[in-house]
Order: sequence, then C-alpha cells, then structure tokens
Amino acid sequence: MSETYRAAISGLGAYLPEKVLTNFDLEKIVETTDEWIRTRTGICERHVAASSQSSSDLALPAAQEALKNAGLTAQDLDLIIVATISPDMLFPSTACYLQKKLGATCGAFDMAAACSGFPYAIAVAEGFVKSGLYQNVLVVGAEAITKFIDWKDRSTCVLFGDGAGAAVVSRSTDGHGILASYLGADGNQSEILQIPAGGSMIPPSEESLRNGLHYLRMQGPELFKIAVKTMEQAVLEVLKHENLTVHDIHCLIPHQANHRILKAVADRLELPLEKIYINVDRYGNMSSASTAVALYEAVTKGAIKKGDYVVLVAFGGGLTWAANLIKW
Ligand code: UT7
Repeated sequence: MSETYRAAISGLGAYLPEKVLTNFDLEKIVETTDEWIRTRTGICERHVAASSQSSSDLALPAAQEALKNAGLTAQDLDLIIVATISPDMLFPSTACYLQKKLGATCGAFDMAAACSGFPYAIAVAEGFVKSGLYQNVLVVGAEAITKFIDWKDRSTCVLFGDGAGAAVVSRSTDGHGILASYLGADGNQSEILQIPAGGSMIPPSEESLRNGLHYLRMQGPELFKIAVKTMEQAVLEVLKHENLTVHDIHCLIPHQANHRILKAVADRLELPLEKIYINVDRYGNMSSASTAVALYEAVTKGAIKKGDYVVLVAFGGGLTWAANLIKW
C-alpha cells in the first residue's frame, strides 16, 4: 500500500534589491503625482533591481535564507521551481541559473503563470511531495520586472517593483501543511496583460523595439474588475475543498497589485481588512514575488502562528488565478 504524505512549508526567505524608488522620484520621470499613485493604488515606494541584477540574482539570497530556515542545504533539494515572467533569458531557465548559483544538483524549471506564479508553483511542489516522489522542493517567486517597463508610460511604470521570495516545501507528518490548491486560467483574455514581443509570435526586431512591444502592457481598469472576481472565487473554491468558510481564515496573503483591489476583495468576502497581509505600499506589484514576500513577512512579523489557516491567492497575466490553503 502506498503511503500518503502531506506537503508543508519548512522555510521561507526574501530579498529586495537595495535601490528604492519613491513616488516623488517618479514625479521627476513621468507626469504623475505622489497623491495620484497613493490614492489610486496605495503604493508609496518600490524596490528596483540594479542593472547588473537579473531575476536569479534576486532569487539567490531569498533561496539561501529559505534553505537556512528549513535547516537544509542546497544538496538536500530534489527540485527547484522558479516562478517568473522576467526570466534571466528565454532559455536556459532562471531555475537552472539559480541551481548553479546555489550549488544544487537537482532538477530545475521555470513556472510561467505571471503574478499567479508563486501559488501555481506551490501547488506543483505540493503534488510532487504528496505523491512521495520528492522530499524537498524549493519554490521561488523572483522578478526583475522593472526591466520590462516603459518608464515613459505612467499607466504602468508607477505600479511595479522588483524582489524575490522563496519557500521550501517539504514532506510533513504532523498534520500541518498545504491542505488544498486551486488553479484557474482563461487564455481568451491574454491581451489584457502581456509583453507582446520577444517570443516566437513577435520575435524581437527593429520594428518591435520601435513600437515598444517588448514592454509590459496592461488594460488596468478591465483587469481591476477581473482581479476582484477571480481572487474572491479562488479563495472560496480552495476553502470549499476542506469544508471551511471565510470565518476560518486567520491570514489572507493576496497578490499585491492595488490596495483598492484588496479592499474590494475583503468587502466581497466579508473578511476584515486586518486579516489581509498588505505590503503593496512598500513594494508595489512584484508579480510572482508579491505573494512570496508577503508570506515571508507575515510569518516573520508574527501575523501567522502555528495552527492558523492561511490562504495564498493571486491573479495575473494569462489570465491566471490560483489559491493555496495552508494549515500553518
Ligand atoms: O499583477 C497584475 C495585475 N494588475 C492589476 O491588477 C492592475 C489592476 N488595475 C489597477 O490597479 C488600476 O486600474 C490602475 C491603478 C492601473 C489604474 O487606476 P484607475 O483608477 O483604473 O485609473 P484609470 O486607468 O481609469 O485612469 C484614470 C485617470 C486617467 O485620466 P483621465 O482619462 O480620467 O483624464 C489616466 O490617464 O488617471 C490617469 N492616470 C494617471 N494620472 C496620474 C493613469 N495613470 C496615471 C498616473 N498618474 N500614474
């Protein structure tokens, strides 16, 4: 008879690049104001990677901290998954670069689910560990997304920031861990949020560069409405799996795109805003790194305690959305 395992997060880490860009700095670059950015998004500042830093450089210190907190070394890893939409290169994967930098020898691949990448990758890690195939999987959300931002486009450049968060997902036997995951996608809405050029559909060319097609493009107001609906749905679906309700949630760790989105999700779920961990004010939208860094901070600051029900939830380009229910 095959044994059944549970997957639990055994260690967390995070890294934010040194350079901080405030709203006041942005006022000098594009036609915007601190007041507009703060009231429309809740963002006050964000971190920006140095020109020499790629996503795997941001991932490395986060991964090292997560391994240390899990009491493991790189040699203990069975798999590395890096969730990113700002990879070091089209290929090899950022996960392979991270594997080299960590000195690990296990398998490694990237997860391309945009801002939902971290919860998606946690679900994949959960599957590998629960099946008994692997014992320790490193999951990293790492983004140097500001390198794909048009600093002349005020509708996007004020929103994003760089960073990385990491979690080690390990076999657990004490009943705690990831209870359920829920993944959603709608490829019909791919044009709402994308970087059009650089792939095989629109290979890089003088024309694509001239038209700025290598920059991130977003239909913000449409996405706002979808974000609220899909995050609410993902939370309810993942709770349903364990016959839990919103009242059982101790801490919700959402993707951090806009404070107003989080307020709307809280209202629709009738979840007190105090139960939602929010750091969008300090980091902006770090795509797949947002939920990873927020989880790290919530645990480090004592907002999550042993036995708490924690829900990770995100939405993003694809469109994609995802949630994980964890008994801490
Ligand atoms: O992780 C990926 C997911 N991304 C998201 O979830 C983003 C979701 N969307 C949003 O967060 C919001 O839609 C935005 C923050 C992107 C935009 O906020 P909004 O309240 O929907 O504003 P809007 O796009 O409707 O623009 C309102 C006005 C416009 O001016 P007019 O046409 O009313 O004269 C914009 O041109 O605000 C103007 N505007 C700005 N003004 C100052 C847009 N960006 C800026 C800016 N500074 N940075």
